[in-house]
Amino acid sequence: MEQLKIEKMRKFYDTFPYPNRPIFQSPVLLMQLIAHGGFGQAILEENIPLSKEIKCIYENYSEVTWFKRNQMLKYYMRFLKTKFSEEKRILLVGCGTDEPLLFRKLHLENEIIGIDLSKKAIRKAKAKLSFHSYIHRIFSLQKLKKVELLVGNAEMVLKEKALGDFDYIQCFGVLHHQPEPYYLLKSMVDRLNKNALLRLMVYSYHGRKLERRIQKRYAGIWDLFLQRRIFKAKLFTHFFKLRFWQTLNFFGLFSSTFYRFRYLGFGSACVADAFLHPSDPGIPLGDIYDMASSLGLKLIYCEGKLESEGYLLGFDNPDEVWKKIVEADAKQDLLSNPILIFCKV
Ligand SMILES: C[S@@+](CC[C@H](N)C(=O)[O-])C[C@H]1O[C@@H](n2cnc3c(N)ncnc32)[C@H](O)[C@@H]1O
Repeated sequence: MEQLKIEKMRKFYDTFPYPNRPIFQSPVLLMQLIAHGGFGQAILEENIPLSKEIKCIYENYSEVTWFKRNQMLKYYMRFLKTKFSEEKRILLVGCGTDEPLLFRKLHLENEIIGIDLSKKAIRKAKAKLSFHSYIHRIFSLQKLKKVELLVGNAEMVLKEKALGDFDYIQCFGVLHHQPEPYYLLKSMVDRLNKNALLRLMVYSYHGRKLERRIQKRYAGIWDLFLQRRIFKAKLFTHFFKLRFWQTLNFFGLFSSTFYRFRYLGFGSACVADAFLHPSDPGIPLGDIYDMASSLGLKLIYCEGKLESEGYLLGFDNPDEVWKKIVEADAKQDLLSNPILIFCKV
């Protein structure tokens, strides 16, 4: 049964690879420094003020000139590099199409391995890496180093392949899609070195009730996924219907759902991801902390945006901030998908 759910999900991401941005689009590194291994490491070493500065960059981003942005990028990258040395190993679980390039650009020298269920997502990630590697060569006379990309269910790949242990694992937007999230979490924790970091992003649980209700309405089509022609025809009919509906929503034509679905934009992968996903049961946020603690993880940072209070950043007191985020989720006051950084103790 669980295997069938994974197969449906593979089919889904082969049809709608995520996030599937154009090949030439490069990540804005200054806005993504919080994904750098050095960010979590600095928090772990209690270098909080600089980590706070890095987290707050995007608030002033639009007011900063291009020249200043470059200076800031160099300055913070130098700092983060001192915290996360070149011999540390990075694993991206459910890397999708764009994460391998982002991490290669953030960590030019480190060994990086990415795993994804979807062959198509990996193919796109490889194409993106090759394209940007040549661009990099033109400007700095050096190609980008290779990222090893593997196709498969990460839980199995981590159990069966001798990949060694890692100093930093990123699992962003993946855990809540698993039929048994605990086992994927465990397989990642088993591959972490002592004091190594795990960075997770999970969907808000109560905030996505409406999405899950819509997914239920379309769940039946996933039972047809072996009948390729009928399945494809049905899937794309529903997809275009939903895209059309979302476009009208986007322009505010449905006042009851406009506010809720404003975050989706036009993006094809986003609309499918929200409404047609075959495996999106969600995880109650409180369970994540309990699962992680039982596996020997300690929360060192978390963040979430509340409607009532704005951003909550758990630099100094992550456990308390996480409790507030969980409570806010239950009251449907949580606007963003929370991010957590754990350390293996
Ligand atoms: C929502 S996308 C997130 C992609 C990427 N992490 C990002 O944030 O841009 C989820 C990705 O996880 C992959 N995935 C889901 N379950 C997986 C599993 N058990 N093993 C490996 N990859 C998985 C999917 O194929 C998909 O590419």
